[in-house]
Amino acid sequence: MPNNPIPVIAIDGPTASGKGTVAAKVAERLGFHLLDSGALYRLTALQALRRGLELRDEHGIAKLAEHLPARFVGGDIFLNNENVTAAIRAEEVGNMASKIAALPTVRQALYGLQLGFRETPGLVADGRDMGTVIFPGAKLKVFLTASVEARAGRRYKQLIDKGISANMDDLLSDLKERDERDTKRAIAPLVPAADAHLLDTSAMTAAEAVEQVLAWYAHP
Ligand code: DC
Repeated sequence: MPNNPIPVIAIDGPTASGKGTVAAKVAERLGFHLLDSGALYRLTALQALRRGLELRDEHGIAKLAEHLPARFVGGDIFLNNENVTAAIRAEEVGNMASKIAALPTVRQALYGLQLGFRETPGLVADGRDMGTVIFPGAKLKVFLTASVEARAGRRYKQLIDKGISANMDDLLSDLKERDERDTKRAIAPLVPAADAHLLDTSAMTAAEAVEQVLAWYAHP
């Protein structure tokens, strides 16, 4: 619907740029709905891993995406009745998500599902292609970046805070590999929309980034 009046704020950016935190806080402040599109790729990846599907089984993985029994309840994410909020954040699932995200039929299968999140009074959508492919008519587009070192540092802290052991060198090489795959893929690569506001959060707190996004939204 090119003239859909329900406002969308698209927040795109690389892994661990802080966009998830910023998107959730902006949605809360505005009373908007939230779409964590990465979670849909992660849920599909988790199911594919559990069923032992190989990456070359594009059709099988797309089928999983098409019939994803996903539910978002408050801050929690369910597959059927199983709470998989923590399970989908595992590095192994993130890596698989980045791989299946390069499959065109998987992206196609998740397209309609994502559009369905656009409900009154508005939507904050977080991902890689929110402003370029899924919601090209978004009222505000933000491309959030941070240096790879800052992002690895944040991911390290998140893991340690959760009691999960982490290695900085592994995290750095993992992030670089995932950036490479997300930016170089043929379909819906991670690139800023031509009309996106760029926000480098390397030296910013999440709260400062939230204020900047709200200011852009209030004064286009
Ligand atoms: O944002 P995230 O780390 O949860 O996303 C997991 C993977 O899903 C990421 O490596 C790329 C992919 N992804 C995508 O291709 N398009 C989106 N809109 C969101 C995520």
